[in-house]
Amino acid sequence: MTGPASLPIGIFDSGVGGLTVLRAVHDLLPNEELVYLGDTARLPYGTKSPESVQRYALHAAEYLVQRGIKLLVVACNTASAVALDVLRHRLAPVPVIGVVEPGAAAATTLSKSHHYLVLATEATSQRRAYTRAITALQPGAIIEELPCSLFVALAEEGWHEGDIADSIAEQYLGVVRARSAADRPDVAVLGCTHFPLLKPAIARSLGPGIAIVDSATTTAAAVGKELARADLGAIHQAQDERISLIATDGAARFARVGSAFLGKAFTASDIEIVDIHPSDLNDRLP
Ligand code: DGL
Repeated sequence: MTGPASLPIGIFDSGVGGLTVLRAVHDLLPNEELVYLGDTARLPYGTKSPESVQRYALHAAEYLVQRGIKLLVVACNTASAVALDVLRHRLAPVPVIGVVEPGAAAATTLSKSHHYLVLATEATSQRRAYTRAITALQPGAIIEELPCSLFVALAEEGWHEGDIADSIAEQYLGVVRARSAADRPDVAVLGCTHFPLLKPAIARSLGPGIAIVDSATTTAAAVGKELARADLGAIHQAQDERISLIATDGAARFARVGSAFLGKAFTASDIEIVDIHPSDLNDRLP
């Protein structure tokens, strides 16, 4: 018997960054089939207008829904910050999980001073989605949102380690390390799924005493919770790993850079390249 529970979970990001979330979902829910879409043809999302990000996110989400998914994970902070409500409205009854609230939840469990630094793309920072999400959990918290858009390019280039990564991290974050201890946050949130690979460079520039957190593990937990609530969990034990990787451009680059994000090697032949042509419907936002 097949039903919605046997469908895969859809996960999308503008590029390879969301593979860190895919990895966490797979680790927590190994019986689930996963289909990942990296919208590499339109990357980066983080420097685009909210209207463009909403349109791109809808195209990606509706493409996955048409292929058949039981739940969507928006493994992109920018799309979560800008388009989550629109996606939930348009995809209902398919549940949609974003990464901002799980990221905020992870951060608030770690902070003693309730002073946070959120590193994100320009679009996410402008939206102040983390400020709202953290404040909802911890009224009175101090939240600084710092756009670090160049980290996305570094990650997509595979340059997350080395002198260039260190020097760009220093440019963005050296000022935080230079502050007095009382003025420094005690938690830095990686508010972009491209940033976890840059964690060593970010940690060096921030200096000691600042915990660095991302949303992958807590997002996976939110997915597990929602599957249980909606009674959509995979019924059968998986015999082998069922992960499909899709991108909208550049299979070779996706494989080269994405392997580090996924934590295991794959090649261009493992990637399906698709054109996610918008229908007329897709372009009319609610
Ligand atoms: N990985 C995405 C995020 O979490 C965005 C990167 C980009 O396309 O700018 O915000």
